[in-house]
Amino acid sequence: MSRNYYRKPMVMALKNAILHLFPMIARRRRWQTPVLETARLVLRQINPTDFEDVRAWFPGAPDAAANAQTHLDYFAREYREHVIGPWGMQFKKTGVLVGNCGFPDLSLRKRRGEVNYFVAPQLRGQGLAPEALIELLRFGFWGFGLVRIQARCELNNVSSERVMQKVGMKSEGLVDRSQPLDGAAPKQKLYAMLAKDFDLTYGRQIRAYYPPLISASS
Ligand SMILES: CC(C)(COP(=O)(O)OP(=O)(O)OC[C@H]1O[C@@H](n2cnc3c(N)ncnc32)[C@H](O)[C@@H]1OP(=O)(O)O)[C@@H](O)C(=O)NCCC(=O)NCCS
Repeated sequence: MSRNYYRKPMVMALKNAILHLFPMIARRRRWQTPVLETARLVLRQINPTDFEDVRAWFPGAPDAAANAQTHLDYFAREYREHVIGPWGMQFKKTGVLVGNCGFPDLSLRKRRGEVNYFVAPQLRGQGLAPEALIELLRFGFWGFGLVRIQARCELNNVSSERVMQKVGMKSEGLVDRSQPLDGAAPKQKLYAMLAKDFDLTYGRQIRAYYPPLISASS
């Protein structure tokens, strides 16, 4: 599994410092989405060959194939235009791609990011989204040097709000939706976590999980 941002901490720190000083480099540069791993998931780039798995994210929908293609086109565009991600969540047990997550908004200059996540309806309720989200936070804070990561959800999206609460993100109240959407409430719920709080909550636990890689960087 590739975790180069751990294996070469000095190189990554230098790279982050350069990107922090010259964010235009980061905007121009095409990063390769690194493969990340949790207990039950491999987080990896989503490819056109994942079409059938992505189609299964819309069970029973007559337009599932069109929806899947729209998603794959969106992912391809993100890989072309954005700094990093999104990641597909591959369920280790079955090898199936069961969802996705990523940083739809990321500023290396401000060292801030926003995350999102989706799990296929058949696999919901097993804690897969929080599991992926913790890994995304870890990568964002420790791999990318972010200081703050936020997430937002619709006012009535209890499941998504629970995910944010379960990983320890803190409520920051309501914010204006970034882009108006027909029929949707103008406000959304905002949650966020700071790097120092992530370290306090997960530092010891995660460092115990990745001892050889972490000891080199800490
Ligand atoms: C939000 C979402 C990612 C949660 O993923 P998940 O892997 O099911 O997360 P969890 O298993 O931790 O469940 C979170 C909450 O969902 C609800 N839930 C539990 N089982 C569920 C099920 N079978 N179906 C739907 N929701 C369920 C519960 O409220 C649960 O909270 P709890 O653990 O305190 O009971 C998933 O519901 C989803 O993809 N929704 C659509 C996309 C979305 O809203 N994304 C968030 C916008 S950023």
